[in-house]
Amino acid sequence: HANIYLSRHGESQLNLEGRIGGDSLLSPRGERYMRALPELIAQAQAYTPYGHADDDRERSRGADGDADADADADAVREPESLTVWTSTLRRTRQTASLLPYPKIAWRELDELSVGACDGMTYAEIEQRFPAEFAERDNDKYNYRYHGPGGESYADLVRRLEPVIMELERHRHDPNKAILIIGHQAVLRCIYGYLLSFSHDELPYIPIPLHMVMRITPKAYGCVETRFRVDI
Ligand code: F6P
Repeated sequence: HANIYLSRHGESQLNLEGRIGGDSLLSPRGERYMRALPELIAQAQAYTPYGHADDDRERSRGADGDADADADADAVREPESLTVWTSTLRRTRQTASLLPYPKIAWRELDELSVGACDGMTYAEIEQRFPAEFAERDNDKYNYRYHGPGGESYADLVRRLEPVIMELERHRHDPNKAILIIGHQAVLRCIYGYLLSFSHDELPYIPIPLHMVMRITPKAYGCVETRFRVDI
């Protein structure tokens, strides 16, 4: 099965101000992540937890066989080809800009649309729309932002269906890995799908900035490894 790599975009100018939505470029720290990302992805691709992690026959030989298993596995292993998927928003495209792989920008991967709250801080939303702020707290999965294009997590899950279908097609081909450079809410939905989180849990999954998650689908469930950089 092909690896799926997930990363948020680097810190954006609006992240820095605590404002949601918008289409800002990266902050200086976000730009450092952009520059560190090619090496971080190369590390994530090269990392194998026990010799050749994908081959159960090799693993079942146990500790004594590990060195041999590594040599055999390296001989047959083809290099993983990687395609990068971004949203159409500037912060994800900028984050991906130095990666030497084919790229596709998906509108479906754009961040949860927050309607009338675009560009606001959470404190400003609470002050201007207290009832709605409380409503979101009560049922974050189903709460739909009011105003033009406003969405809920439930809407987002529906919008992401074609992306998930395409991921499913890819994941059966062991050499066609995908790296998604995405947004917090979008990656919660994709990660939550891959790791079978419930609708109630999904809007609260922590997806920190400046970290790559490698997800390797197995026959039952997925194995996850995280790669960080200090920037
Ligand atoms: O703050 C970054 C961000 O991606 C916003 O653009 C988005 O509205 C928010 O995170 C989603 O997180 P939550 O659903 O927890 O507000």
